[in-house]
Amino acid sequence: MVAPECAPVAQAGGLGDVVFGLSRELEIRGNAVEIILPKYDQMRYDRIWGLKLDYQDLWVPWYSAAIHCSVYFGFVNGRKCFFIEPHSRDNFFHRPGTYGYADDAMRFAFFSKAALEFMLKSNKRPDVIHCHDWQTGLVPVLLFEIYKYHGMHNQRVCFTIHNFRHQGPSGAELLWATGLGRPEHYFHYDRLRDNFNHSLLNLTKAGIVYSNVVTTVSPHHAWEALNTDQNFGLGHTLWVHRGKFSGVLNGVDYDVWNPEIDGFIPRRYNVDSLNLKYDNKRALRERFWMRDGFKPIVAYIGRLDMQKGVHLVRHALFYSLGNGAQFILLGPSPEPSINGYFWHLKHYLNDNPDCHLELRFDSELAHLVYAGADMLIVPSNYEPCGLVQMIALKYGTVPIVRAVGGLVDTVFDRDYCSRPHEERNGYVFDNADYSGIESALRRALGLWHSYPEEFRRLMVNGMHCDYSWNWPGQHYLNIYEYIRHK
Ligand code: GLC
Repeated sequence: MVAPECAPVAQAGGLGDVVFGLSRELEIRGNAVEIILPKYDQMRYDRIWGLKLDYQDLWVPWYSAAIHCSVYFGFVNGRKCFFIEPHSRDNFFHRPGTYGYADDAMRFAFFSKAALEFMLKSNKRPDVIHCHDWQTGLVPVLLFEIYKYHGMHNQRVCFTIHNFRHQGPSGAELLWATGLGRPEHYFHYDRLRDNFNHSLLNLTKAGIVYSNVVTTVSPHHAWEALNTDQNFGLGHTLWVHRGKFSGVLNGVDYDVWNPEIDGFIPRRYNVDSLNLKYDNKRALRERFWMRDGFKPIVAYIGRLDMQKGVHLVRHALFYSLGNGAQFILLGPSPEPSINGYFWHLKHYLNDNPDCHLELRFDSELAHLVYAGADMLIVPSNYEPCGLVQMIALKYGTVPIVRAVGGLVDTVFDRDYCSRPHEERNGYVFDNADYSGIESALRRALGLWHSYPEEFRRLMVNGMHCDYSWNWPGQHYLNIYEYIRHK
């Protein structure tokens, strides 16, 4: 794996969970997996076991010179991880944040180059190099244009796109820095040139064009990427390469997210002891100073940004409060205007005993919210896979989701789905507007209040779903086998 994130040491979003969870599953199935990451300054070093210098003097060619790097090795919850630390004035990874810098494309182009140089020099010849998102889009380009001729001719690349919105735009300097050169060759519509801005290179496109196989994180999102505007301008590229493109649903790590063994909740439970869930509901209310009473708790967990449908989150909050429910929100809001708005809302609702807003990322607290809430809303504008709805199902918390991306592949509407009744596990709405989310929320709250036995059936159906890494792990192994012999 060559990746910009791995949970829990370096994580900005779901990508980090996937890199960790998939690697673990592949190892359980008897494969050797190593993960190459940048050595960020602000990693959770307390979660790395036995960190030590592994490769002292790695010289990575960069422009007409080379940058001196050290490579560290350490275990992250049992996974073997290598961390690349460049020593140069560019300070690629000695920064307070992971992303969001003007030179992001150069930072990760360097990382991609360094990852290959490390494999070459330390004689690592994996059958498959699995890359994730634009940060590593240059890996297959460098492999098949340069490193292949230096002894890495048997390696194959699988490229997984977690989010089409970020594509790593960059200029020609990237070609000179990485040793690719030949702008006339790479600034070509069939290769790295951005489909719309002809003066830019596009690193997600690079990954699609050069990899042996390309996946995104759910079957429905693969369809959306090919047929709607959810590919953010890469539709034609995907269409050209559709023969090697598909969707593989992510899994959830049930060692971490499982109410039966969860160490972060006061009362553990499973499908046979579902009543114990309500001890967690009480604990959740106490934790947030909310009042006890005969009301369901509707929760939202996740980042607050445009992708996640913030206007509908706000609407669901007021709709719940006005219709006999309580509301809890847990998540950071990185964008200043949205952040300002939600802090205003938090102060405004401060004395309301039926709701609580916790505006930060806190995964330990998330366990308690999943365990204590009755319903979870996911009103995303687009959602390549989404992990929160799968976690909610495991905790018997009924998901209410918009019909996009991976949400379509995992949540099946109680009233309108064509599947058998025992497979229906939540509520789904189509339109990203107020009446859309209201229609689903009204049905969910109505069932909770009027038909508690039926509501419980929905909870049980959800808990019976298997969204572990078991299937996706096998699916990726099939893909690896297929490209290995091509
Ligand atoms: C991105 C997507 C999300 C997906 C995650 C892991 O964060 O936005 O839908 O679940 O990657 O693949």
